Amino acid sequence: MYQAVKLSFGLPFITALLIYKWRRRHFSMYDNIEDFLESNSNLMPVRYSYSEIKKMASGFKDKLGEGGFGTVYKAKLRSGRLVAIKILSNSKTNGQDFINEVATLGRIHHVNVVRLIGFCVDRSNRALVYDFMSNDSLDKYIFSQQGDISLSCEKIFEIAVGVARGIQYLHQGCDMPILHFDLKPHNILLDENFTAKVSDFGLARLYPLDNSIVSLTAARGTIGYMAPELFYKNFGGVSNKAGCI
Ligand SMILES: Nc1ncnc2c1ncn2[C@@H]1O[C@H](COP(=O)(O)OP(=O)(O)O)[C@@H](O)[C@H]1O
Ligand SMILES: [Mg+2]
Repeated sequence: MYQAVKLSFGLPFITALLIYKWRRRHFSMYDNIEDFLESNSNLMPVRYSYSEIKKMASGFKDKLGEGGFGTVYKAKLRSGRLVAIKILSNSKTNGQDFINEVATLGRIHHVNVVRLIGFCVDRSNRALVYDFMSNDSLDKYIFSQQGDISLSCEKIFEIAVGVARGIQYLHQGCDMPILHFDLKPHNILLDENFTAKVSDFGLARLYPLDNSIVSLTAARGTIGYMAPELFYKNFGGVSNKAGCI
């Protein structure tokens, strides 16, 4: 009698305990997957407010340089990761178009293409946040006045092959081909291992062509590097070959 009572109380308890343990294991597996997906949300570019951008760039103290599209500042994310923030000047694109373009550009991942990790659309302010490239751009080595900044032949060869791979990926490896239109040594950045990274890809798409006179020099390339058919309208059709030097 005592045994029967013990069994009738004990059995449901043990069964419930086993079910509870199984469910915990089962769901913790999904929790792990969710944690993984959350921590990898950085696969998509992050949207920052202008005040966050300003804070990350410590009030725009450290200017890296200036180009046809805007000014670039060195900045730091909260995680400590170094970034380069490009504050775009005179971008007339509407906010939604900008976000759509940036979402496409942010999905581009290649060892020879600079990662776009974030962006800002805040009233009229537009900014792009890129991985910081510690060895600056190729033009600093090619056009260096001081003889001491030089690259070995092997490195130059590796850089050339890297640029070709990056461009090949932008032209043929993406869902929609991305033509650079402003490929020049200034837009080949070098990381800490001197790996070549193509930068400023897709910027032409953020600036509609009918904008202003700047579009000829900035949005469609830099004179001296751009393909002649981009400059002289009667020279022939523009194809993806115009995206290469
Ligand atoms: N991701 C980056 N990391 C480090 N430096 C950068 C980065 N992007 C741009 N720069 C530097 O900022 C300067 C200005 O860049 P940019 O506005 O693209 O003009 P340009 O390409 O015409 O030189 C360049 O000297 C470049 O070396
Ligand atoms: Mg550039």
